[in-house]
Amino acid sequence: MSLRGKSAIVTGGALGIGGATARRLARDGACVLVVDVEEDAARANAERIAAAGGRAAVMAGDVSDEDVARGMVERAVGEFGRLDILVQNAYGGGADRVGSAVEVSTGSWRAGMDLLTTALFLGAKYGVPAMEVSGDGGRIVNISSVHGLLMASRSVVYEAGKSAVIGMTRQMAIDFGPLGITVNAIAPGHIVTERGERLWSEHGNAAGFRLFELQYPVRRTGVPDDIANAIGFLCSAEASFVTGVTLPVDGGLSIQLQEDIVMEVKNYIRDNAGLRTHFDSQGRYGRR
Ligand SMILES: NC(=O)c1ccc[n+]([C@@H]2O[C@H](COP(=O)([O-])OP(=O)(O)OC[C@H]3O[C@@H](n4cnc5c(N)ncnc54)[C@H](O)[C@@H]3O)[C@@H](O)[C@H]2O)c1
Repeated sequence: MSLRGKSAIVTGGALGIGGATARRLARDGACVLVVDVEEDAARANAERIAAAGGRAAVMAGDVSDEDVARGMVERAVGEFGRLDILVQNAYGGGADRVGSAVEVSTGSWRAGMDLLTTALFLGAKYGVPAMEVSGDGGRIVNISSVHGLLMASRSVVYEAGKSAVIGMTRQMAIDFGPLGITVNAIAPGHIVTERGERLWSEHGNAAGFRLFELQYPVRRTGVPDDIANAIGFLCSAEASFVTGVTLPVDGGLSIQLQEDIVMEVKNYIRDNAGLRTHFDSQGRYGRR
């Protein structure tokens, strides 16, 4: 119960990585405000936390909206009396955000950047003063991605946004370090969430999933708890000297030379011509 007495906000805390993070922080003793556009799922997660003996509240809203960002901080302080931890995790993209700068509309770019970057700016704008008033330092954890470290084709919105998260994290660590507030980012590899499981079962098959696993030096993809565990550490008192870092939690995906991965998997692909992955639903990887 290392976070006993702390108050936390988890954006996108209903499902997936955020859902597991909300449960993890509550298990460590924090009171958790789950902020999400999916109110029913957020409520279900809060009930799950309460059933396990934790304390959670729910706020419905889109965190790229300034009123919601301000409101979530007010709500956490109103409900729990303070704010110590802010995990900025919410993201949900649509097909309109897939493509190069030539293909994506200006409106889709702006909407993507609003959620990927402006929401994090707003979270800090309103969250940091509340952490200062609470008077015990603070922790901000921003969720980037391996897509912030390594670039994929036809993904200008996501790759630019997740790269920006890394820059914002480093910059904010400088600004807020003197207040005792650490700001770190996590770059997850492929994490199979509830939504990911659905995509895999609809569009992928076992051979395709194995192809994904083979690209990871640890020979598996991730689960939400892999990320929640790292966030739990970064939010703990033991991590007070860690700030401005982007921690890849990716089973080694981002340290392996691409040429080496291709050599590792080429025979597998040749021998499993019928493999299908969840990406086959997205139409991003046509034949060139
Ligand atoms: N799953 C992965 O493989 C993976 C890999 C790298 C990075 N990430 C990042 O991790 C974070 C969580 O992803 P996930 O896979 O758990 O996604 P998910 O879709 O399973 O969960 C995202 C949650 O955010 C909520 N949400 C979406 N838009 C919102 C908004 N505007 N305001 C408030 N809530 C909103 C959703 O309702 C959902 O509960 C995202 O930032 C994502 O980019 C995921």
